Amino acid sequence: MSDAAPWLPRAAISGARYSAAELAAAGDQVFLLDQRELPAREIYVTLPDAPAVAEAIRAMVVRGAPAIGVAAAYGMALAAHASQRDDADAFTAAMRAAGAVLAASRPTAVNLAWAVDRLLAESLRVADRPGSERAEHLAEVARSIHRDDVASCREMGRVGALRLPEAGTVLTHCNAGALATGGYGTALGVIRAAIEAGKRIHVLADETRPYLQGARLTAWELHEDGIPVEVITDGMAAHFMRREAISAVIVGADRIARNGDVANKIGTYGLACLARAHRIPFYVAAPWSTVDLATPNGDAIPIEERSRDEVALIGGRSILPDGVGARHPAFDVTPAALITAIFTERGELDPTAIARG
Ligand code: MRU
Repeated sequence: MSDAAPWLPRAAISGARYSAAELAAAGDQVFLLDQRELPAREIYVTLPDAPAVAEAIRAMVVRGAPAIGVAAAYGMALAAHASQRDDADAFTAAMRAAGAVLAASRPTAVNLAWAVDRLLAESLRVADRPGSERAEHLAEVARSIHRDDVASCREMGRVGALRLPEAGTVLTHCNAGALATGGYGTALGVIRAAIEAGKRIHVLADETRPYLQGARLTAWELHEDGIPVEVITDGMAAHFMRREAISAVIVGADRIARNGDVANKIGTYGLACLARAHRIPFYVAAPWSTVDLATPNGDAIPIEERSRDEVALIGGRSILPDGVGARHPAFDVTPAALITAIFTERGELDPTAIARG
C-alpha cells in the first residue's frame, strides 16, 4: 500500500490516485513517485532543489519522456523559488545553471530539453519582476506543462482508440502510461480510452529487459485500473504474433525526428519489424512535445548508453561470468516506414508527413 501521497488532500494534476511528479502547493518541493520501488512499494521522494531533481531523473526515480519533462519543469520552478532574493542578472544566471544541469540528466527524450527551454525562456521574460512574483509565475508555467500533458494524453487516447477493434489483444512495450507522463499515458492512454469507450481490450505487456518497465510498471498501473494484462518476456512477441490474434502493437516515443523516425525503448524497433512481418498495425502515441523538427532523422537522435550492470545484474546478482562485458543502449530507432500511424493531440498523423504537423 501507499505512503500518504504528500500533496493530498489537494487533487494531483495527474488525475489518478498516484502521480509521477507533483510540485508542492508552496512551490518549494517536488514529489516524485519512486518508480524504482514499484510494484513492491509505493513511495514518494521529496526533493528540495533542481540538482536533486536532475539526479532523480538520471537515477530513474522518474522516467518516461513526458514525465521527465514535467519533472524538469518543476525542477526549474524550484530554482526560481530558491532565487527569489536575487536581482535579475543573478536570477537569470541561476536559471541557466539549473537548466543546464536538468537538460544533461538524460539525452534521448526531447521532452526534457523542451520543458527546460520553455521555463528558461519564460524566466528571461519575467526576470525584472519581484522575486516572489517570478517564482509563482514559473511554478504556474510548470504546472500548466503538466496539465497540458494530461490533456494531450487524453486527446491522443481518443484519437488512437478509434483504431482499436471492439475486442482484441494489444501488445505494448516498456511503460508509456500514467507513470511515464503527466497522467493517463500515451500508448496506455489509447488503451484506457478504448476501454472507456466500451471496447474489450486485453493487453500483452513486454517485460522490457533490462529495466523491466513493462513487468513492473505497465502491469502495475493496468492492474490498478482493472485492465486485463499479461506479461510476456521480450523474446515471446514473435510467437504470439504468429500463433494468436494480435490486433495492434502500440508504443510511446522518446523523440520523433522530422522524417518520422521514432526513438523509443530498446526493443521497439524489433517489435516494429515483427509487426510488419505479421501484417499487424504498429502505432506510436506521443504528445507534440516529443516531436523534434530540428532533428532530421533517427540517425541524428542521441541514444543513451546506460551502465553494463543494469544488464549484468538481476536482483543484485550477476548473471554474467566475471570479466564478460555487456552492452546497454537504452533506446533504438524505428524507421518511419514501419509505423502505421502516430497519434498525437493534433490527430492521427502519417509518420512520413510529421513535418507538416
Ligand atoms: O528509460 P525510460 O523508462 O525513460 O524509457 C521510457 C520509454 O521508452 C517510453 O516508452 C517512452 O518514454 C514513452 S513514455 C510515454
